[in-house]
Amino acid sequence: MAASLDTGSTDGQEQVLANPLGGIRSNYPGPHAEISRDRNLAWWRRILPIIASHRLTFVTSIVLSFVSLVFQTLVPNMLNGAIDNALIRHSGALNSDVVHILIVGVIAGVTGIISRQYVYYTAYNVEADLRSLIYEHLTWLSFSFYDRVQSGQLISRANSDIRSVQMYSTFAPLIIVQCSIGVLAFGFMLHINAPLACIAMTIMPILYFVGIRMRRVLFPISWITQARLADVATIVDENINGVRVVKSFAQEEAEVNRLADAAERVAWAYIKDAQIRGLWSPWVQNLPQVGLALVLFFGGWMVLDGHLGIGAILSFNIYLLMLQAPFMMLGQLVMMGQRAKASAERIFEVLDESPDIVERPGAFDLVDVKGAIDFNHVRFEYANGAEILTDFDAHIEPGETVAIVGRTGSGKSTVARLVTRFYDVAGGSVCIDGNDVRDVTLPSLRANVGVVLDEPFLFSISIRDNIAYGQPDAPINDVEAAAKAANAHEFIVRLPQGYDTVVGERGYTLSGGQRQRIAIARTLLVNPPILILDDATSAIDVHVEAGIYEALGQLLRQRTTIVIAHRISTIALASRVILLDGGRVVASGTHEHLLATTPLYAEVLAQTTSGDE
Ligand SMILES: Nc1ncnc2c1ncn2[C@@H]1O[C@H](COP(=O)(O)OP(=O)(O)O)[C@@H](O)[C@H]1O
Ligand SMILES: [Mg+2]
Repeated sequence: MAASLDTGSTDGQEQVLANPLGGIRSNYPGPHAEISRDRNLAWWRRILPIIASHRLTFVTSIVLSFVSLVFQTLVPNMLNGAIDNALIRHSGALNSDVVHILIVGVIAGVTGIISRQYVYYTAYNVEADLRSLIYEHLTWLSFSFYDRVQSGQLISRANSDIRSVQMYSTFAPLIIVQCSIGVLAFGFMLHINAPLACIAMTIMPILYFVGIRMRRVLFPISWITQARLADVATIVDENINGVRVVKSFAQEEAEVNRLADAAERVAWAYIKDAQIRGLWSPWVQNLPQVGLALVLFFGGWMVLDGHLGIGAILSFNIYLLMLQAPFMMLGQLVMMGQRAKASAERIFEVLDESPDIVERPGAFDLVDVKGAIDFNHVRFEYANGAEILTDFDAHIEPGETVAIVGRTGSGKSTVARLVTRFYDVAGGSVCIDGNDVRDVTLPSLRANVGVVLDEPFLFSISIRDNIAYGQPDAPINDVEAAAKAANAHEFIVRLPQGYDTVVGERGYTLSGGQRQRIAIARTLLVNPPILILDDATSAIDVHVEAGIYEALGQLLRQRTTIVIAHRISTIALASRVILLDGGRVVASGTHEHLLATTPLYAEVLAQTTSGDE
């Protein structure tokens, strides 16, 4: 056992993946080991390095459990001797026998307790490692991964999958140890009386098969129960998060009915489960009694014949009771193994996914950014294959403020995502100060390009911490300055707890425009030389918006700014407008110039601004 664990661990150490984001390293120590990267290995071989990293506690628990079980098996045999010698033949000293049995019992108990502690210690550490591995990996994965998978489902599933792998990989060896003890117990029984031992053991295979059979019928129903519970959770979650929609369409009753249906389906599954258990449990519980009866019957005859002592019957009874649990669990082991395999494969699905956006070897830090941005004949498509940009060619000077205008869905946000390298271009290149964004380190790129998205995500923490998200140690003066520039300071200080107000679900509900202003402040605090505002002011009042742009201009005239907007008042702040249509730049120039020369421009403006002002 120990030898194979060792090989597993060296495998794992060779294969540790480097953090594809490079530089970022926190105090968090990370998991103890990686899974094996070799996809051809059996699932448990791939998990082995993680278990091997806890081999000290794991092996201790198994050894102690073995010791405990050996001592446990000694007891019935000693009891047999004590009864026959001390009580029946009056030849031994009862007191010393009792003391011996007590000592052996205490050793069995203490080692048992310590072994349990170590098992749980190992199990939960393995679980924690798997969880860290998955979540760490999820944070490394690129946007394209999240476009494909349902992240909510992924995370909830990850939890149950981790649990089932952990259970199997730590408890299965223990069950096997327990069963191997059966051999020892059988040896003692053979030693006491061979024919009776064989009779007593006939019940064990039956117990094993009943255990398997019961699991096999219970297994599907437990899956169904899980799935139906998840349905209920989804409905409840939707009703809580979507409560405004539910109420505004007066659909409370329909929702209650939907929930009641789902609850009924869960109840059906639970009742079915109970029925099956009800049917099988008596068998499982009473089969050992049949074994006891057999021992009493045949053993009784032997005692009457004088071939066997009374003590033997007693010790056979104890052995049988001791053996019943491991033999039943042996049946469960098969099922647990199948489930753990399926779970492990789902975990590997995530861990085997590699991020598309990784640093090149030899990537350098982007420093002293002047702010020139070149889109050189950029071609881009999302993973689903639709070509969004066919030949986007635009050049932005350092310090320039440029507006990108285009119809909804024309690819304006996509252009912004290419500058921060959330996705890679399919053709052409995006360069900052002449450096291809694929050649520079990711943290330095993202520190130099600040993006404010149209739907700002705020965390359920205080406003101060939200603004300081990119620079957690920023002094409050800087936080306030950023808030002032984003025209947010005034409304923040009017809140009951000011900058300490907690945002979000259990905190203070902010309006869309207020959230956008906090998101702008969050980006301004980092003070990036390149700023991209993607519809970032769409929910902000026109006069407040004007104030923000005024402050922006004052704060840093050298900043290169790309605004994606559709309000004429916003566009007017830009010195140049780029008109995007059909995946390419169709015109570029001042607002007035485009209005005069490009009919499409006026058309797009009319379309996108209708109903807004
Ligand atoms: N993550 C994505 N995966 C696949 N298609 C996307 C994704 N994001 C946007 N799209 C598609 O790309 C096109 C351009 O989107 P976008 O750049 O957001 O447009 P805009 O910001 O101009 O409204 C749209 O047709 C949209 O459906
Ligand atoms: Mg957009």
